[in-house]
Amino acid sequence: TIAVITIDGPSASGKGTVAALVAAKLGFAYLDSGALYRLTALYAQRCGTSWSDEAGVAALARTLPAEFRDGGVYLAGEAVDDAIRAEEIGMGASAIAALPLVREALLERQRAYRVAPGLVTDGRDMGSVVFPDASLKVFLTADAQVRADRRYKQLISKEDSANLPRILQDITERDARDAARSVAPLRQEPDARLLDTSEMTVDLAVAAVLGWFEQ
Ligand code: CDP
Repeated sequence: TIAVITIDGPSASGKGTVAALVAAKLGFAYLDSGALYRLTALYAQRCGTSWSDEAGVAALARTLPAEFRDGGVYLAGEAVDDAIRAEEIGMGASAIAALPLVREALLERQRAYRVAPGLVTDGRDMGSVVFPDASLKVFLTADAQVRADRRYKQLISKEDSANLPRILQDITERDARDAARSVAPLRQEPDARLLDTSEMTVDLAVAAVLGWFEQ
């Protein structure tokens, strides 16, 4: 079987950065599942489909014209790296992610990323729903204030409107919704290793994951 490392955790915990570096170290593929939810939210917005229209958004998710190539994210051929990272689209992603038909529509697309020699993937339910048989499951988290600071630094380079108290509030709201929803709620799986990166550099977090994988 093909090795899979899942890294799940709350908003802005740094799991994407860690997952991408672990994948590069091992020569594995990398799937940012949150980007699929963000792409779906952006696509719905552009198609004029309301984020609350479950069947409508699920239909868009099934045929999502998205590509990950050359380190970038494309929607219908257009580079959307910055557009999908906007806080508004993060909120939209969290809203549509609570809809069972939308999650169902993205399931097989996510599983198709499992290719030799292996896959590293990050999200909310990679270890619980998408790859329950993963070789290593990590639950990566950090204090809410630390996560807000990290997201602020990421956004300030692109949006002049970045506002720290507002970001902390958005992150807290999104976490609450991700944890409270009835489908694939965010929580640490019993067989997942806990990695709290509040006071940890990226390099140390990457080393911890690689250490567990090699055990
Ligand atoms: O890193 P951040 O939390 O800002 O966002 P993300 O990982 O790109 O995910 C955006 C939203 O998509 C999350 O708030 C979740 O609601 C949803 N999501 C999910 O439900 N399941 C996943 N596997 C990944 C993301």
